[in-house]
Amino acid sequence: MATPQHSLDTQDEESLILASVRQLVGQRVAPRAAEIDERGEFPMDLKELFAQNDLLGIPIPTEYGGLGGTFLTYVKVVEEIAKACASSSLIVAVQELGMLPILIGGTEEQKRRYLPKLASGEWIAAYALTESTSGSDAAGSMRTRAERRGDAYVLNGAKIWITHGGLADVVCVFAVTDPRKGPKGISAFIVEKNFKGFQVGKKERKMGIRGSPTVELNFADCIVPAENLLGSEGEGFKVAMKVLDKSRPGIAAQALGIASGALEYATNYAKERVAFGKPIGQHQGVGFMLADMQTEVEAARLLLYEAARKCDEGAPDVTLWAAMAKLKCGDVAMAVTTDAVQVLGGFGYSAEYPVERMMRDAKITQIYEGTQQIQRLVIARALVGRGADAASKGQGTGG
Ligand code: CAA
Repeated sequence: MATPQHSLDTQDEESLILASVRQLVGQRVAPRAAEIDERGEFPMDLKELFAQNDLLGIPIPTEYGGLGGTFLTYVKVVEEIAKACASSSLIVAVQELGMLPILIGGTEEQKRRYLPKLASGEWIAAYALTESTSGSDAAGSMRTRAERRGDAYVLNGAKIWITHGGLADVVCVFAVTDPRKGPKGISAFIVEKNFKGFQVGKKERKMGIRGSPTVELNFADCIVPAENLLGSEGEGFKVAMKVLDKSRPGIAAQALGIASGALEYATNYAKERVAFGKPIGQHQGVGFMLADMQTEVEAARLLLYEAARKCDEGAPDVTLWAAMAKLKCGDVAMAVTTDAVQVLGGFGYSAEYPVERMMRDAKITQIYEGTQQIQRLVIARALVGRGADAASKGQGTGG
């Protein structure tokens, strides 16, 4: 892919990108979605397609090989792809997630060394925060250690639920450098797949997003050059959280896309399927379901686009808006896909129709990048401060 020469800053440019993404999705993604789910294989050809069309580094500045676009454009692209295939939308979203620690916390040298290869899609990125004992409590329960020895750090430990971890050329890994300091004792590292002691472990068998491989990563005396420390020691947890502020809207976009895809399918079905002498959508029981689904999808969309604008503006309340967008879109995705299955009745429960896959895919959006319980915790803290800690924290998360 040629390095893009112009930054994207107008609505016209966004419209052109979205028109081209819709075409690519219709021609290349939608026809493969059922097969990608059934085979549970990462669609490398679609990664190449997205790379050729400059979709893997949309909000990355042009000086680092990205498109220089907005987060708003980025979330709209993820949404368009997720309408047809949730697994494929993660190719774009997780590349962003893996690049953001470098963009947010990296030195100029690190940005120049890694971002162009990742934004172009030559390399695949991943983000490794979660461990078997630390999902929601990402800081407090982290066990992976990084010890400085000479001009390198030695990493020991394991990460689980790492999306694309087995495919990644570069993984941003969070590890404890000083266990006495809590979150301030966590540092971030750029780990390349060929670093000694980096091992890919078992692949998860999952309910949904089956074309997006999720693996365990092991670090057995993994040697990471000191120059691959991201920023300074002790800054890792803040970088991890700032990344999530910008990546949670991407997962919200995935959720919204899944919901929109299911709503469109169910609506078309309800216009054609006849029962008791008329299309089922004209029976109030089904028509009112569709009305609620449509209203929820549009409400979620407005919230998400506003959160993406906050990312673009660098607004001080971006943490709150990213959490609200993820919470709303994830819950809407689950509710709308469940209702879409209901509208199709027995056909909805069959793998011959896409809505059962969409319902399975929707569930993860309520779990990863912070469970819905964690989003509520973040929102409550933004409203009333730490006194809201009584709100229950969820368990597993991902990444
Ligand atoms: N921006 C900047 N700094 C932040 C921040 C933010 N959004 N959030 C917290 N911090 C800072 C705090 O200010 C604090 O620093 P100071 O002491 O200097 O003020 C420090 O970080 C620690 O913060 P908290 O005390 O709030 O930390 P906590 O232990 O209470 O945890 C939490 C906060 C919100 C629960 C956090 O642990 C969390 O988000 N948990 C969920 C983890 C998660 O989302 N994992 C997703 C993995 S990725 C994934 O899922 C991807 C995938 O598979 C595709």
